[in-house]
Amino acid sequence: MAKTSSSYVCQQCQAKFASWFGKCPSCDSWNSLVETVGVPSGSKRRAETQPLQRLVDIKTVGKKWMSTGFPDIDRLLSGGFLPGMVMLLAGNPGIGKSTLLLQIAASLKQPTLYIAGEESPEQIRYRADRVGSIPPTLSVLPELNVDAVIAAIETHKPAFVVIDSIQTMSTSDLLGAAGSIGQVRECASRLTIAAKRVGAAIAMIGHVTKTGAVAGPMTLEHIVDTVVMLEGEERLNLRILRVLKHRFGTTDETAFFSMNESGFVSASDPSRLFFSEETVGRPGMALVPALHGRRPLMVEIQALTAPTVLSYPRRVSVGLETERLHVLLAVLLRHGRVELGTEDVFMNVVGGLSLQDPGVDLAVCMAVYSGFRGRAVPGGVAFIGEVGLLGELRPPSRLADRVKEAKRFEISRLVGPNISTRDGWDVRTLEDCLRHVFEERVHG
Ligand code: TYD
Ligand code: MG
Repeated sequence: MAKTSSSYVCQQCQAKFASWFGKCPSCDSWNSLVETVGVPSGSKRRAETQPLQRLVDIKTVGKKWMSTGFPDIDRLLSGGFLPGMVMLLAGNPGIGKSTLLLQIAASLKQPTLYIAGEESPEQIRYRADRVGSIPPTLSVLPELNVDAVIAAIETHKPAFVVIDSIQTMSTSDLLGAAGSIGQVRECASRLTIAAKRVGAAIAMIGHVTKTGAVAGPMTLEHIVDTVVMLEGEERLNLRILRVLKHRFGTTDETAFFSMNESGFVSASDPSRLFFSEETVGRPGMALVPALHGRRPLMVEIQALTAPTVLSYPRRVSVGLETERLHVLLAVLLRHGRVELGTEDVFMNVVGGLSLQDPGVDLAVCMAVYSGFRGRAVPGGVAFIGEVGLLGELRPPSRLADRVKEAKRFEISRLVGPNISTRDGWDVRTLEDCLRHVFEERVHG
């Protein structure tokens, strides 16, 4: 390969420099320079072009999906992996990315290459022993040089390649260290080109840094075909896989797993993870058919209030934005006469789930009310609805799907706006809801 030189290109104004600057000398943007492989000057020869092909003459073959061994992940990826498809698996360190891809690699019955950039082959063997049987089609290559990895892919022509991780790969054509934005991007794009040429599916692991996506793998979003994110609480064994981008199907799909001593196990009925029948009938809990991504899930919201010992009462919210809790407490005060000025309020979404669904507002209000007054929500009741600042309730998106989810859990009365009498109670304001459920007369 001809020796190439690298330069630093500003991502804002495209200006090129021979060395790195914190601030672009041309447009004054901060941290915008990224090391990039440059074409040596004076070598601008005419590029050779491929012969044109008429689109109608191009033969299509049926898509050859490779199953991942997890029906839930196949559903997420609209069938599994395709030859030439490049997927980025992003997530926090320690969340289980290597384990998941090793399990997938072990379940494929096709030649698979595991590029070990972070761990030794012995460590990977040790992990593989924990998660199941090891097929003879699975090989390991400890290698950090992306060009050597590509040479191996071209020689052995595997059907599936795992890169663990993209942050450990580098090319000697760039000066930056492995893990720098320039290296990560260049390595990912070289691997992508190789995947398409050889027809191998590649899954790249990318660690997300706690501070966000600065030097993170998210700079690769436009290079790869598919981006999936592995999320979860490290302490809990719940793991959630979410599709952020998918060139061959829909996004925002999710799959749930529990992670135990022998790796990932599909959670066949994830709602079971987010509430238990034991807490029904106790003050301080309310159920809601919430949306997680596009998926309706029955979730338990818990709230606890206790007299504060501080001059400012505490508001702690796990799984929902604390700001939202503040707003709902103000609405409860004004429209439900729930005075929490000297009470600490703790709110928790059971199971460690994070929700961005305004449809859970009403359930949060009811859990807080129930906890504060010491009065339980009757059995068989769940809540749904967004709460407005005037105490009015708004129907949430995908109401029909949520009603269906509630039915699965023997909810006989769903309470919220636009709920038919067949399914429960149609209430239009917070006061309405309190009156119906707790026979509370808020005014007069
Ligand atoms: P790992 O896959 O190494 O995470 P990542 O590649 O995302 O950094 O998994 C890390 C944790 O998972 C580790 O602390 C041990 C735990 N673990 C299990 O709980 N069960 C298992 O079967 C395995 C292999 C690991
Ligand atoms: Mg790992």
